[in-house]
Amino acid sequence: MVSPAILGLDTVTVEVEVDLRGGMPGFSVVGLADTAVREARERVRSGIVNQAFDLPRLRIIANLAPADLRKAGPQYDLPVALALLSASGQLRPGALAGTGAAGELALDGSLRPVAGALVMAEHAAHRGWRQMVVPEGNAAEASLVPGIRVVGARTLRHAVDILEQRDEPVVVRADAAELLEHQALACAGDLSDVRGQGDARRALEIAAAGGHSLLMLGPPGGGKTMLARRLPGIMPRLEVEEAIAITRIHSVSGLLPAGQALITRRPFRAPHHTISAAGLVGGGGIPRPGEMTLAHLGVLFLDEVCAFLPVVLNALRQPLEEGCVHITRARGAARFPAEPLLVCAGNPCPCGHAGDPIRACICAPASIDAYRGRLSGPIADRIDLRVDLPRLDRAEMMDDAAAGEPSVVVRRRVEAARTARRDRGQHLPNARLGPQATREAATLNREGRALLGSAIDRLGLTARGCDRVIRVARTVADLAGSAGVESVHVAEALRYRSAGAVG
Ligand SMILES: Nc1ncnc2c1ncn2[C@@H]1O[C@H](COP(=O)(O)OP(=O)(O)OP(=O)(O)O)[C@@H](O)[C@H]1O
Ligand SMILES: [Mg+2]
Ligand SMILES: [Zn+2]
Repeated sequence: MVSPAILGLDTVTVEVEVDLRGGMPGFSVVGLADTAVREARERVRSGIVNQAFDLPRLRIIANLAPADLRKAGPQYDLPVALALLSASGQLRPGALAGTGAAGELALDGSLRPVAGALVMAEHAAHRGWRQMVVPEGNAAEASLVPGIRVVGARTLRHAVDILEQRDEPVVVRADAAELLEHQALACAGDLSDVRGQGDARRALEIAAAGGHSLLMLGPPGGGKTMLARRLPGIMPRLEVEEAIAITRIHSVSGLLPAGQALITRRPFRAPHHTISAAGLVGGGGIPRPGEMTLAHLGVLFLDEVCAFLPVVLNALRQPLEEGCVHITRARGAARFPAEPLLVCAGNPCPCGHAGDPIRACICAPASIDAYRGRLSGPIADRIDLRVDLPRLDRAEMMDDAAAGEPSVVVRRRVEAARTARRDRGQHLPNARLGPQATREAATLNREGRALLGSAIDRLGLTARGCDRVIRVARTVADLAGSAGVESVHVAEALRYRSAGAVG
């Protein structure tokens, strides 16, 4: 009997064998098993008895091979139970040929869903297994995978009856494209709830269209958090491969609700500023995805960004650059995709009122410098767009006409910009272009170059900073439906370099 073990997002085949020997009755599990796997003995024992099978009064040894691979979690309950029933003649010989299984047993013998059924089904299909037995609650996600028969079972007895061809599996057929057709607006709240803040709304649209990271600075109550939460709703609707990639990650993390096949919304993750570096980028003895990976293809929102420890922000640098996280451990390495849209928000100073025309800032200049230092150090050079959110004036606060465009209208423009980029033959979002590709995608005319040249002096732009401006300008041009990057596009891109300079 085989079962796919999960290592990060990768899988390895585990052979599950059960041997019955004379001597003192007992039950042991061997093969580098963690606590949850060793406890399988108790669950398998109860499950077998409670489903009216016989527990042989012999020495039972379950072996999980390869022995040097660490096995974790309760997913081996079902394969161990099936192998035991087969070894004791309660399952016809050959019934398990070409069959993989994974599932947790409740004490009454019913099957509980496990993490990672989607990647397990992919593993089974890839290895050419005949079928994969999973708990009913995992059948929907597993059925997304073509080329493998998914057997959804309610209980151990049900699984055996299906394998003996006395009963039918729970049949679910999930179709990703169909599920995505009905995807709702990707988040709670609409952009039309936000009044004023024209600059920030525009920056949000550019961020969504080009994948550019964004920093919003402003006094309390200006709508920074509110705007960030509405960002997934203006990003392009998910495509099938994207939705599967997101679902894989959430499934192995145990975050896919039982019975759900597919995640159809872009994730929005807003970790608290007390999070550890490992929590943010991933880690653990058995590598697990961090917030950056859970936000893959969605939004990673760092609210109160200056309150995060520099060492934590620093951990973001390499993954932001590469779009993935590598975790190396003695017992196996893992690579997780990590391409979130990074959005940071913060106050311009510790008291929050620097630059505020109404309330005076009470911070000492040195403390403002230290506070800003947290920003300018670790990730400032990874931020493409910076924008100030001033306090709303009274007119904007009172006037209903100050309500802006709804998300769906903005999203249409964002999707059109993505289409324009693809029509150009460009696969990567603008924010992910390397220096060479940036030059190819965006040739500046003389005026644009002059503008950029003057900014190099005025803003102290580095070569890397220049590339950043050009990539943002490319996105502004895409949104304008312009094939070339004109000087107005460069001018707008430059505006998002100078924000946050008030003090
Ligand atoms: N531009 C806006 N349009 C409409 N309502 C707003 C706006 N800005 C703020 N609000 C209202 O004020 C509340 C607080 O806004 P929000 O939490 O987004 O501010 P913030 O900029 O994140 O503040 P802080 O710096 O304290 O985190 C919102 O829930 C909303 O009710
Ligand atoms: Mg806030
Ligand atoms: Zn202050």
